Parts: sequence; structure tokens; C-alpha cells
Amino acid sequence: MNRVKNKIALVTGGALGLGRATCLLLAREGARVAVTDVRDEEGRAVAEEINRAGGTARYWHLEVADEAQVKSTFAQVATALGPVNVLVNNAGIAGANKPTDQVTVEEWDRVMNVNVKGVFLCTKHAIAGMRQAGGGSIINLSSIYGLVGAPDVPPYHASKGAVRLMSKTDALLFAKDGIRVNSIHPGYIWTPMVEGVGQGSGVSLEDFRKQVGAVVQVCARKPF
Ligand SMILES: NC(=O)c1ccc[n+]([C@@H]2O[C@H](COP(=O)([O-])OP(=O)(O)OC[C@H]3O[C@@H](n4cnc5c(N)ncnc54)[C@H](O)[C@@H]3O)[C@@H](O)[C@H]2O)c1
Repeated sequence: MNRVKNKIALVTGGALGLGRATCLLLAREGARVAVTDVRDEEGRAVAEEINRAGGTARYWHLEVADEAQVKSTFAQVATALGPVNVLVNNAGIAGANKPTDQVTVEEWDRVMNVNVKGVFLCTKHAIAGMRQAGGGSIINLSSIYGLVGAPDVPPYHASKGAVRLMSKTDALLFAKDGIRVNSIHPGYIWTPMVEGVGQGSGVSLEDFRKQVGAVVQVCARKPF
């Protein structure tokens, strides 16, 4: 309990899946949470759930690939709750699931804009407030797909590999300011994103679950 008491935490993509769970956990551990997402109804519901349980949260609409929105949201959160101490760069999309020679430039750009530019923009606009607060923590959701290859979602693999190295560079750049930057690399977790990939996979959801289970087992045996 209270591992992040009185910290201000901003979570991107906080309406669903891992982001939602992260918001609820940060609130239970004492943080005041800025829940942000593009899915306003679900995002507001997360903030309301936290407030009903006795925590403190507010929802902001935030498209992470839009710098004007990112800048304005960090400013609004600082005014409403205080400068952000903890940033969870969680928003992400799976994007096109087809071989590289069939991926369009638009499909490639959309994944890079959300998964890579989104992390860059939110990090960029978090730093000043963290310096002002004397330090902070940035947690970037990469993926097991940022560590190992698999024969699917090529733009997603590229984006999560980028997030891994952005995290390493930013960790070195901002250590002197007391700002930690880490990436985390989950295997498959059943969320709306993974279910969406399963629905477009051409096999039943049950078979898809078995397939992703097999991928995770192979990855778990490989040394990184
Ligand atoms: N679920 C997994 O198995 C898994 C594994 C490894 C990594 N991840 C990563 O964890 C993160 C969360 O994944 P999830 O499975 O919970 O996904 P999800 O699709 O269930 O939830 C993602 C959330 O991000 C929001 N979002 C999408 N695009 C956005 C944008 N442009 N701006 C702001 N918000 C946006 C969505 O509205 C949604 O609320 C992602 O970065 C994903 O790549 C997930």
C-alpha cells in the first residue's frame, strides 16, 4: 500500500486493458491519477471508479500522436493535480497484421505515430515537470515483440523495438535529473487489443489463444 502516495501519475491509453489496470493499481497505491485516452466514455468510467473507491483521478481526452494535445494535457494536469511524477506510456495499437510486402505506408505510419511518436511526445512534455519536481519515473510499454521476432504484425515489432532503445537512451539522458526510464516487455495478456488481433487472425479465438500460448512458450525458452 501507498508505494506511490501523493505522486501524480499520468497513464496514456488508460481506458482499457493494461492501461486501465495500471490506473486502478496506481490509485490503490496512493497516486493521484490522470487517466488519458481517446475512448472518452471508458476513460471517464475508470476515473469515476477510482474516485468512488476513495482515490483521486480525472479523465482527459488525449490522442498521443498529436503534440498540441500532449502539451496542453500535461499543462492541464499540472494545474489540476500537480506536475506529473510518474508517466506510463501505455497507449499502443497492434496495427496491420499482414506480411511486410503487403503493409501500406499509411498502416506503417499509423503504428509508428501511436506507438513510437506517442512515447516520444509524452516523454518530451513530461520532462520539465519532472525536473521541477526533482525527479520522476517513466514506464514505457514495449513488448516481448520488442525483444524477439515472430512472423506477424511487422510494424508493431519495429515500433516496440524502437521503444526499447528510446527507453535506454532516455534513461541515460535523464538519470542526472533523477528521472528513471524503463521499458517493460509483457508476453501475451488477454486484453481488447489481443482479442482484436485474434478476431482478424482467420482462426477461431480458441485456436488463436493456443497459438499465442505456443509463441510465448518458445520466447520464454530463448535467452535475451
Ligand atoms: N496485451 C498484451 O498482450 C500486450 C503485450 C505486450 C505489450 N502490450 C502493450 O501494452 C499496451 C497496452 O496494451 P493493451 O493490450 O492493454 O491494449 P488495448 O487495446 O486493450 O488498450 C489500449 C488503450 O490505448 C488506447 N489508445 C489506442 N490508440 C491511442 C492513441 N492514439 N492515443 C491515446 N490512446 C490510444 C485505446 O483506446 C485503449 O484504451 C500497448 O502499448 C501494447 O502494445 C500489450
